[in-house]
Amino acid sequence: MLTTQPLSFVSVLFFVLFLSQPLSSLSQSPPPSSSDSVYNSFLKCFSDRTKSSQTQNVFSQSNPSFSSVLRAYIRNARFNTSSTPKPTIIVTPRSESHVSAAVICSKPLNYVLKIRSGGHDYDGLSYISDKPFFILDLSNLRDVSVDIAENSAWISAGATLGEVYYRIWEKSRIHGFPAGVCPTVGVGGHLSGGGYGNMIRKFGLSVDYLIDAKIVDVNGRILDRKAMGEDLFWAISGGGGGSYGVVLGYKIKLVPVPETVTVFRVEKYINSGAVDFVYKWQFVGPKTDPNLFMRMLIQPVTRNKVKTVRATVVALFLGKADDVVSLLRKEFPELGLTKENCTEMTWFQSALWWDNRVNATQTDPKVFLDRNLDTSSFGKRKSDYVATEIPRKGIESLFKKMIELGKIGLVFNPYGGKVAEFAVNATPFPHRNKLFKIQYSVNWKDNTAEIEKGYLNEAKALYSFMTGFVSKNPRSAYLNYRDVDIGVNDHGANSYKEGEVYGRKYFGVNFDRLVKIKTAVDPGNFFRNEQSIPTLPIAKGAEVPEPGTARRWSRVGGAAVAAMVVLHVF
Ligand SMILES: Cc1cc2nc3c(=O)[nH]c(=O)nc-3n(C[C@H](O)[C@H](O)[C@H](O)COP(=O)(O)OP(=O)(O)OC[C@H]3O[C@@H](n4cnc5c(N)ncnc54)[C@H](O)[C@@H]3O)c2cc1C
Ligand SMILES: *[C@@H]1O[C@H](CO)[C@@H](O)[C@H](O)[C@H]1NC(C)=O
Ligand SMILES: *[C@@H]1O[C@H](CO)[C@@H](O)[C@H](O)[C@H]1NC(C)=O
Ligand SMILES: *[C@@H]1O[C@H](CO)[C@@H](O)[C@H](O)[C@H]1NC(C)=O
Repeated sequence: MLTTQPLSFVSVLFFVLFLSQPLSSLSQSPPPSSSDSVYNSFLKCFSDRTKSSQTQNVFSQSNPSFSSVLRAYIRNARFNTSSTPKPTIIVTPRSESHVSAAVICSKPLNYVLKIRSGGHDYDGLSYISDKPFFILDLSNLRDVSVDIAENSAWISAGATLGEVYYRIWEKSRIHGFPAGVCPTVGVGGHLSGGGYGNMIRKFGLSVDYLIDAKIVDVNGRILDRKAMGEDLFWAISGGGGGSYGVVLGYKIKLVPVPETVTVFRVEKYINSGAVDFVYKWQFVGPKTDPNLFMRMLIQPVTRNKVKTVRATVVALFLGKADDVVSLLRKEFPELGLTKENCTEMTWFQSALWWDNRVNATQTDPKVFLDRNLDTSSFGKRKSDYVATEIPRKGIESLFKKMIELGKIGLVFNPYGGKVAEFAVNATPFPHRNKLFKIQYSVNWKDNTAEIEKGYLNEAKALYSFMTGFVSKNPRSAYLNYRDVDIGVNDHGANSYKEGEVYGRKYFGVNFDRLVKIKTAVDPGNFFRNEQSIPTLPIAKGAEVPEPGTARRWSRVGGAAVAAMVVLHVF
């Protein structure tokens, strides 16, 4: 069985690869000449389709509001400069049918359509492009409706996590949702990319709690889970939204949280045992009681004029202080945790505390509704996964390296517990069995091209230093920690090959299924960005595979794809 199917598939691919044109004609045909005419034709189409004048919701570069609308959801100052590429048009839909019209009206214009919800993409992919592009900004689609009786909520793509937490808090002190710790992150990018926070060990990922979703597909149709089918629903549950359509929102299941939770923070420096502290953390953080999440922050600092490293545990315990103190006295005496180090509060207050509000119990909950940010530092992030503990000597050499580099910090996020209980292919997120995730993190205030290059190189240098300690074949990365260094796609003739490079790092064994779904739902590759899922190369004019065909391919899966790459090389 398995020998005949791949063969016929390979011969088909042979034709595909050698006799066909790439599908990417979209990105290669020149966009219409004048941006005025593009604006006018888009606006006419959009107004016709929505049966009203839409000048309020479509911004050309000459609109006086253009730059404030653009800037409102830029969260990285690196992409807020005069030389940052700007969209020809920004569309800000106010209803689902607006989104549908925006997709239909952009399609014939041959522009890249960038979809933006909260704008927190670390490399700005939701609002920049080196090709002519539009931004579809969903920040006005921000309804959150919580149904405590049903234990669920509808959360729109343009809502922020802070709004989601706030609306839950309004109705209940014992319900929560396992998602990111930064309240201004958008639902659209966060959930379509997986989503995790300080309850990952107790509950898993945000996408482990999806009940339903709504999406606008490439034909402008509004589809719920039933209408889109399980393949597409699976793909947008962590496979990155921007490859398949525009996510309008998700229906989520709420989780139970105790009335009292505990937070604490403990710091060590090299001269107070930071090496042993971090070394030991690896054996406790990912294995302890799933109610406990201990994030480890590692940062080079100067203290009393000496360069050293600070290791900080920041923790949430879903329970009382006494219980976590006695748990950690046994499991992690190096931490030296006492009750005085702990603060008890409600779960919602702990979300405020994690957002660096020291006085969480006195903070107005409404700060989580604040959207008027329009400031940010310059930043860069990268990610890695660790599957076996780093040796003590390794930690030592790491600290030395970090002091030598001087700026870049690391965040170790423990896994284990519930996140590992779901199958690796339950959602597109494949990293469930890892010990912990590393985030490389550097921010800076004043910028020049030179300074920026220095920081970006520092991030690359530490990433390269870590090679021996982290996952390999493929070296894994977390989609929501967007990092264009791991590969980008020009969507030309090599789109599939380029896509494999970053795609296997982000999605591991789930990459092939994502490609099949992408090929079935968006064969013309309209929804694309620098790291979107590529389509399988298919001859122009050839039949587009039906979802049924795609499923048949999944049985040949890896073998066929491997064969294709080999053929391509020759
Ligand atoms: C300060 C900060 C803190 C963070 N903390 C966490 C954390 O605790 N946990 C975590 O998991 N991640 C965290 N992240 C990463 C975050 O989850 C991702 O950046 C996420 O993609 C942001 O979603 P967004 O809607 O704000 O981003 P956007 O920049 O709007 O979008 C990100 C990507 O998703 C696509 N996209 C956005 N909306 C849609 C949509 N509606 N339909 C289809 N595609 C869409 C965009 O095109 C883009 O490719 C953090 C990021 C920042 C900047
Ligand atoms: C923890 O509490 C002890 C007192 O019990 C105190 O000496 C120590 O400084 C505290 N540590 C932190 C990190 O606050
Ligand atoms: C917390 O708030 C109180 C009153 O608002 C203030 O007196 C105190 O200094 C604050 N504590 C910290 C650590 O900011
Ligand atoms: C973008 O730059 C403008 C100045 O040009 C500044 O006022 C604004 O705060 C910046 N926004 C972000 C998010 O960096």
